[in-house]
Parts: sequence; structure tokens; C-alpha cells
Amino acid sequence: MEKFNASIAYDQRMWDADIRGSKAYVKALERAKLVSTDEMEQILHGMDQISDEWSRGVFVIKPGDEDIHTANERRLKELIGAPAGKLHTGRSRNDQVVTDMRLWLRSAISTLTDNALQLITTMVERAAAEIEVLFPGYTHMQRAQPIRWSHWILSHAVALSRDVERLQELKKRVNVLPLGRYALNALVRPLGFFISVNSMDATGQRDFVAEFLFWASLCLTHLSKMAEDLILYSTKEFSFIKLSDAYSTGSSLMPQKKNADSLELIRSKAGRAFGRCAGFMMTLKSLPSTYNKDLQEDKEAMFDCYDNVQAVLQVTTGVMSTLKINQTVMEAALSPDMLATDLAYYLVRKGVPFREAHGLSGKAVFTAESKNIALNQLTVEDLTGISPLFGSDVSSVWDYRSSVEQYSAPGGTAKSSVAAQVEHLRNWLKKH
Ligand code: ARG
Repeated sequence: MEKFNASIAYDQRMWDADIRGSKAYVKALERAKLVSTDEMEQILHGMDQISDEWSRGVFVIKPGDEDIHTANERRLKELIGAPAGKLHTGRSRNDQVVTDMRLWLRSAISTLTDNALQLITTMVERAAAEIEVLFPGYTHMQRAQPIRWSHWILSHAVALSRDVERLQELKKRVNVLPLGRYALNALVRPLGFFISVNSMDATGQRDFVAEFLFWASLCLTHLSKMAEDLILYSTKEFSFIKLSDAYSTGSSLMPQKKNADSLELIRSKAGRAFGRCAGFMMTLKSLPSTYNKDLQEDKEAMFDCYDNVQAVLQVTTGVMSTLKINQTVMEAALSPDMLATDLAYYLVRKGVPFREAHGLSGKAVFTAESKNIALNQLTVEDLTGISPLFGSDVSSVWDYRSSVEQYSAPGGTAKSSVAAQVEHLRNWLKKH
């Protein structure tokens, strides 16, 4: 039972938050005249010694240390004796654990924000540097229209920028003090928290953990999507990109292989995070009011999601800053059929309703296919047979660069639009 009940194996990583919380708490007790100034000094000094032991890796966990809170208090008693018993006045572990988790998660969020911003910066600068590169855009995994490679990169950077914004929103809800209802003001300032509205809610709910787990799932889902595209682009069949050796592995059997292990693991972690999120929601469902030991399940889920998102953000930054693109292959992968929409637009510009123009361009695609030639090899006669509005100026359609340049509206793939997206994200980065 002792082993089953204990959380020290994993909650010891909150040792610093636990000590910071206790130090602020004892100061509040002193102001409330529940401990003397001398007792407060002893407790603060003892806590500093414990902090030193943890940071040097010499803190000894003893049998009976159920969790980080009991371990630190047990050690305090060993160090300073009787006054240690006053620290817990008016406080329960149920307050303490949720305070520690909020303190821990708040600094974890700062680290994740930095990691995500670094990744976004890498992507934005890569997009700026490779803005001239064109390649096929796909929908349903079918070849759709020519786009800029940078447009693809930024589509993922923009999703990540929303993840950062979501994380900042979530931080506001993490930053709430559950502890010490009667000595509030003395605690709120040193710990930098806002005050919780209801004490039963404060100790009995874990919305902020559930929200973080969902956040991790969504952020990793975005990164799994990007990883999947890159895995495909790195295959011999596509050969659009080449991962650096540092982010790939060889095969133990087949000497020619270069496996995209980094990207495959990045892709995998969303499933794991969502499992944590769904699992914890199941734990929360139908719990009775206030604290129940089921809530101890919150920590492994939170730590696991944090560790994985952090690793994924760092490795993705490494992958994105070291991969090489093959511009020649990317542009050679474009084919005239990808300009069929532009052929329809040619007719639209001559007054044909789009639906009709779409059908006429489709006929041209069909004709080229049945003649076994590329769409741009159709003669003007072939085309005028389909619509008399086609003329010799149709040749202007068969140009990939001028095709992408048509999409100059905000968010488009024209050079000016992509450059504007780069600027937008650079400004956004300055503000975050
Ligand atoms: N280790 C516990 C947890 O993680 C701390 C709170 C225990 N409270 C209690 N009354 N048993 O949730």
C-alpha cells in the first residue's frame, strides 16, 4: 500500500516549487502572528538548506516520504526540530499540492513558450531565405496548384503561433493561488498569483492541468502534421528535402537507408499526449467535490506531456534548421496539369462564368490526356475547338512563376503575400 500510495518517485521534481511555496507561506504565518519572527527565520533557513540538498542531488528520500511535501517537512524537522511543526498551520497538503503544481507549471510554460518561439523564428527565417522556391501544393494528397515552399513553411508557423497564444491564455488560469485563505495578501504578492474565488473549487479542480494536456495534444497534433509532410517529402520518390545526418538514422540491415526517425518520433507524440489528456479526463469525470486521491494522477500526465512537447519543439527546431531542400527537383515536380485552374481563369477573364470555364478547362485536360500529351502541348486549334475565346495569348498561362504571382491577396502564395506573412510573423515574434 505504501508503494501504491506514494507519489514521491515523480513529484520530487516539484521540490523547488514546494520550497518556494512554504517559504512564502511561513512569512504569511509570521504576519498573522502564528509563528514568531525567530521561528520564521529558522524555518526559512532550514528550507534553504533543503533546497541546497536537492540542488546538489544529495537529498535522501526515506521510507515513509509519501510525497515531496511530506519529504521536505520531515527533513525540516530533522534540521530545526519542533518549530518545523508550525509550518503546516492552517494548510493542508491538498492546498499545498495544487499550489506546487501551479508554480511548477507556470515556469514550465515559460520554457515551452521560449522553445516554441525559437522554432517559429527558425521557420520564419527559413521561409524568408527560400522565398523563391516553388513546389507542388496538394489537397487530398493529389497534385493541386504550384505554391511557394515558404508558403508551406509558414502555414505551419502560423498554427504554432496560435499555440503560443493559447499557452499564454492558459497561463492566466494557471496563475491562481489556492493556498492559505486567511493570510491571502501576504501570499499573493510574493508568489505572483491571483486569488482563487472559492476554496473548495481551488483544491478540488484540475482544469488547469486538463487544459494544459489538451494544449499539448493540439500543439503536438500540429507538429505531427508537419512531420508527416516532411517524411513524405524526404522519400526517394519525392526527394524534395534531405534530413541532416544528425536527425536521421541508418538501418541495421540495409546500408543504403536513411530513416527519418526524428520526424517519425515527432509524429508519434501527439497520440501519446492525447492519451494522457483523455485518460486524465476519465479520472476527473464524476469525482466528488474537493480533493480526492484520484487527483494524484494529474502529475505523471502533466510531466509526461511537458517533457514530450519540450523535446519535440527542440528537435523540430533542429530538423528545420538543418534540412536541405532540392530546389531543382521541387520545381521539376510541377507539371502543366497543375495550371488547369489557371486555364479556367484565362476564360474567366474573358467573361466566362467560372463554373463553365471549369468545365471547358476540364475538356482541355481530357483532350490532352487522350492525345497523351501535356496540357500545354495542346495547339491553339485544339483549344479553340473547345472554346472560341482561346487565343494565342493562352501561352501566358504556362508559366509557374506567373501562376503563383496571381495569388497576391493577403494570405496568398505570391511573393509579395508570402513576404507580408514573413513580416507579420516577425512583428508577432517581437511582441512575444
Ligand atoms: N501526493 C498527493 C497528490 O499528489 C498530495 C495530496 C495528498 N493529500 C491527502 N490528503 N492525502 O495529490
